[in-house]
Amino acid sequence: AAANPESAANPEAAANPESDGRPRDVVAAAVIDRDRVLLAQRAHPAALAGKWELPGGRVEAGETHAQALVREIREELGAEVEAGDGIGTPVALPNGLTLHAYRARLRSGTPAALEHLEMRWFTAAELRALDAEDVVPADRGWIPDLCRALEET
Ligand code: CDP
Repeated sequence: AAANPESAANPEAAANPESDGRPRDVVAAAVIDRDRVLLAQRAHPAALAGKWELPGGRVEAGETHAQALVREIREELGAEVEAGDGIGTPVALPNGLTLHAYRARLRSGTPAALEHLEMRWFTAAELRALDAEDVVPADRGWIPDLCRALEET
């Protein structure tokens, strides 16, 4: 994260390339609609299956974070979103990737779990009621940030 300090707040930030040229950034979307945020339950790998996450995935070479976010949500949920500001602090993943979360707003389509086991809209109260064990480890620290974002609107 130190090499790319702007990316947390700026969805237009360029990806942070690894020595092999492949970006090492992962983007995740906090799709917010009124007082709810969308979480999706991972289907794989086995260790994470059934746990809730902000949907997203790896940034491809040449993509901005915002472009990657829009593509991932199209692929995973079949909906069009617009990327907004960063939310929470970027998280270093055990595999050397860095995970960045951004707010996102639905532009068209109805999100559906195309690659996840399930998706669900959560209010702040419902987020707080979630057992931490049921959230993927990297995303757990963002729950308070998500609650604040939902309650400020
Ligand atoms: O589909 P793609 O391979 O691009 O991405 P992914 O497998 O969904 O995510 C890449 C990495 O980020 C994996 O290690 C995921 O576990 C992690 N990730 C996460 O920890 N939290 C998220 N909200 C999204 C991805």
